[in-house]
Amino acid sequence: MDTVTERSHAKLNLSLDVLSKREDGYHDLKTVMCSVEFGDDVSVSLRTDGRTVCRSNLSWLPGDSRNLAVKAVEAFFETLGEKNPGAEIDLNKRVPVGAGMAGGSSNAAAVLRALNALTGAGLSAEALRGIGLKVGSDVPYCVAGGNALAEGRGEILSALPAVPECSAVICKPAFSISTADLFRRIDSHQLRTHPDTTGLIAAMKAQDLQGIARRMYNVFEDALTGSSREILSIRGELLDSGALGAVMTGTGSAVFGLFDDPKKAERAFSRFRGRYKDCCVTRIVSEPVMAE
Ligand code: C5P
Repeated sequence: MDTVTERSHAKLNLSLDVLSKREDGYHDLKTVMCSVEFGDDVSVSLRTDGRTVCRSNLSWLPGDSRNLAVKAVEAFFETLGEKNPGAEIDLNKRVPVGAGMAGGSSNAAAVLRALNALTGAGLSAEALRGIGLKVGSDVPYCVAGGNALAEGRGEILSALPAVPECSAVICKPAFSISTADLFRRIDSHQLRTHPDTTGLIAAMKAQDLQGIARRMYNVFEDALTGSSREILSIRGELLDSGALGAVMTGTGSAVFGLFDDPKKAERAFSRFRGRYKDCCVTRIVSEPVMAE
């Protein structure tokens, strides 16, 4: 049985702005995303009995269609108009769940790439993004990853220049935040500030890491309630440890800081390691994982 293994990179939002609520209940976003080396491994092989079985190293993770990796199999064959033969999916999870790091979405995108190879369908990245959007708003970005501006629900993507070489320290507090809840909260919240997305993109074009880090901002931080304040204290600690900038990713609860000095990043990581189960030091990978 052929097996294809794909790397499923975690994503970080360097900036995240919510522009408006849409008629369909989703929100129009403007967000600069990047991928990091840290991620999961996703192995996929085809079955013949129409059943999809998804296993992982996390015993509590659902293996049925609540899991985006399983949804991706269904969406792939439905879009091709072919009978679903079923698939065997093995997830080696490292990316924390409920962290705002697109763990589930990047697993789904990895499944789409693997099925594309296993079936010989030869679909383009654009076609896989179309299927990915049926699975979730972050899946289109995760099909190729890299540096991108995402607009609309997250599916209107424009490639951005590489982020200069740097280290990222990522730390997730023990609690998770429901994405849908935080979006609901932002509807009744008067946003005080918006990120300078244009300035951030200009800093990326100028390869100005300090300028990038200075402009990192996520509007969802403004809508956090008292119980989520730990996120702001982790952010403060990252800055105290020498991060050029630090911000919550997506709808949280993970926070990351960017460092130009790998030694400072390692020192920051060792400050968090004893206290937080989910923390890592990694680097940004600007190369997309799939060609256009
Ligand atoms: O698309 P996905 O299923 O990942 O989205 C999860 C939830 O996040 C949605 O049900 C919606 O409440 C919210 N969301 C949104 N606008 C977006 C993306 C997600 O309101 N652009």
